[in-house]
Amino acid sequence: MTDQEIDLSSTDLFDIQRSMRAMRRLKPDPVPDALITKILEAGICAPNGGNTQKWRFLVIKDAEVKKAVQHYYKRAYDEVQKPRHDAHAPKEPGPALDQHHRNEKAIEYLTDHFHEAPVWIVACAEDAHSDAAATGASVYPAVQNMLLAARALGLGATLTARHLVFREEVEKLLGLPENFGSFAILPIGYPMGKFGPTRRIPVSEIAFLDNFDTPWPT
Ligand SMILES: Cc1cc2nc3c(=O)[nH]c(=O)nc-3n(C[C@H](O)[C@H](O)[C@H](O)COP(=O)(O)O)c2cc1C
Repeated sequence: MTDQEIDLSSTDLFDIQRSMRAMRRLKPDPVPDALITKILEAGICAPNGGNTQKWRFLVIKDAEVKKAVQHYYKRAYDEVQKPRHDAHAPKEPGPALDQHHRNEKAIEYLTDHFHEAPVWIVACAEDAHSDAAATGASVYPAVQNMLLAARALGLGATLTARHLVFREEVEKLLGLPENFGSFAILPIGYPMGKFGPTRRIPVSEIAFLDNFDTPWPT
């Protein structure tokens, strides 16, 4: 899918989904609270186990808190993620390696500027440990709804979870009560670049009919 094939000004759900990629370069300009409320309202429409709605959303604008958390977000990149990415980088020069470098540059940019996003939404849940898949399953649908809502409002955002490498330290800085866990931090702001098509393996290669030998016909 190319830029030309998606109307980037469209608010059609399918166009929004196809052009909602991680927007890691954000302007520091403030985002009106009314838009954050709309994003949160989209979030709480999501499915969740037993409709218990144990999710909680912490909106962070405090510059000191964001900077303190960014310290751990960067440490997690330097100490854990970058070595892993380097190990998995394509070995041969070519388009795949070029794409890897472009991606890594964007990831590094967000890492260095994480705290400069004007607003974060931290997706949390009560009675939850962030490493419990079942609780995550009741939080991430809301996160996806919020990402789509941000995109529909012309705001850039990224689902980030790397802070979980230093979960205890970060949750203390965020002031989460003992019985709450965090699952994602969404830095949100007006994007510096353009929205564009997501790059994904086509449905014909990852969907099947009745058994894994029969590709879903597209
Ligand atoms: C569970 C999860 C955690 C993620 N954590 C991070 C993160 O900490 N930092 C980041 O820059 N991107 C993070 N991402 C975003 C993915 O890297 C991104 O969705 C993926 O590379 C596809 O890129 P695209 O959405 O731009 O097409 C995360 C995505 C998921 C689903």
